[in-house]
Amino acid sequence: QTRFKVAVLAGDGIGPEVMAEAHKVLNAVEARFGLTFERTDALVGGAAIDAVGQPLPPQTLSICQQSDAILFGSVGGPKWTGLAPDQQPERGSLLPLRKTFDLFCNLRPGQIYPAFADLSPLHPRVSSQGMDVLCVRELTGGIYFGEKGRGEDSAFDTQTYSKAEISRIARVAFEAAQKRSHKVTSIDKANVLQTSILWREVVTEVAKDFPDVALEHMYIDNAAMQLIRSPQQFDVLLCDNLFGDILSDELAAIAGSMGLLPSASLNGSGFGLYEPAGGSAPDIAGKGIANPIAQILSAALMLRYSFGLEEAAKAIEQAVQQCLQQGIVTRDIQPDSSYGTADVGSAIANAIAGA
Ligand code: NAD
Ligand code: IPM
Ligand code: MN
Repeated sequence: QTRFKVAVLAGDGIGPEVMAEAHKVLNAVEARFGLTFERTDALVGGAAIDAVGQPLPPQTLSICQQSDAILFGSVGGPKWTGLAPDQQPERGSLLPLRKTFDLFCNLRPGQIYPAFADLSPLHPRVSSQGMDVLCVRELTGGIYFGEKGRGEDSAFDTQTYSKAEISRIARVAFEAAQKRSHKVTSIDKANVLQTSILWREVVTEVAKDFPDVALEHMYIDNAAMQLIRSPQQFDVLLCDNLFGDILSDELAAIAGSMGLLPSASLNGSGFGLYEPAGGSAPDIAGKGIANPIAQILSAALMLRYSFGLEEAAKAIEQAVQQCLQQGIVTRDIQPDSSYGTADVGSAIANAIAGA
């Protein structure tokens, strides 16, 4: 297969800016590998609210349904925070998309490459040892999707996990570890939370099917600390929805920037939504300085996981490395850099074309 349909949902803030660079890179991949990525733009988030009055228009949903994958930018921003919670871009578009397509498995890979250790804010004593962590985050359950309520003087959110929800994400983590360094660290708060006690039980049970993978349990607070103290101790982090959200931002910062961390949200049968782990970055939107790498690497993950185009995915990843090596980077990683979003995107696209 050489033709693939992609729903492109750029969204808000820096979303459209970094998406433009992902397009350049996909164009370069098409030319080099003789592929066609048939791309259809669709409105989502605040941009959709402004244009048609709702964050996830039916038209957008149907474009997604007719596509082989979704390439997503980011949604949300100060303009829409006054709306009712379930009308806001995040809860009104991104969460329903994850639920509708049963994208229960969120993969967020974070690395410190020894050659780029100085991108990391960690002390060289720590960063020089490198880091290669895959965060496997449960994405369609937990406190994000539990019953919620708001009274005049109080509010509540509830967290529920079933054995089935825990075991399916645990399996993904163990299978990933088998292809990596054979270690899973399962994150919970089993000293306080009932859902965490069940999480620990189920993960321990699933581990029996993977005797070649070492399993360790760690409390979330300790994990947040250990990641900074010695990130090289981790291989696969298995997290519930909320803990994975938090630790993945930490991974991004340790790797060097929020603008470097891609993510794949998968349903187990090849369909996926691919987006940067970071958000719409209202503080830098419109300035042409956002780092496009997380969006570009998310496109690479789409080629790998939804299209089976491993060689093309690697070509993108190598071009990103080359660009970092040449110091063509935005100022989130090099504060005195004069390169902008478009410079980095073009450099990566050129590296793919020239190779
Ligand atoms: P954020 O990730 O947007 O920004 C946090 C910090 O990281 C900011 O200083 C920002 O400038 C920086 N940053 C993020 N991506 C960057 C990039 N590519 N290049 C350079 N710097 C980058 O998080 P926030 O400020 O907490 O949230 C802003 C909005 O984005 C909120 O509405 C939030 O709900 C939303 N959000 C959306 C998504 C998504 O659509 N997937 C993810 C996270 C946050
Ligand atoms: C992320 C984001 C989302 C999340 C928000 C925007 C709902 O922070 O993808 O990490 O919390 O999952
Ligand atoms: Mn997040």
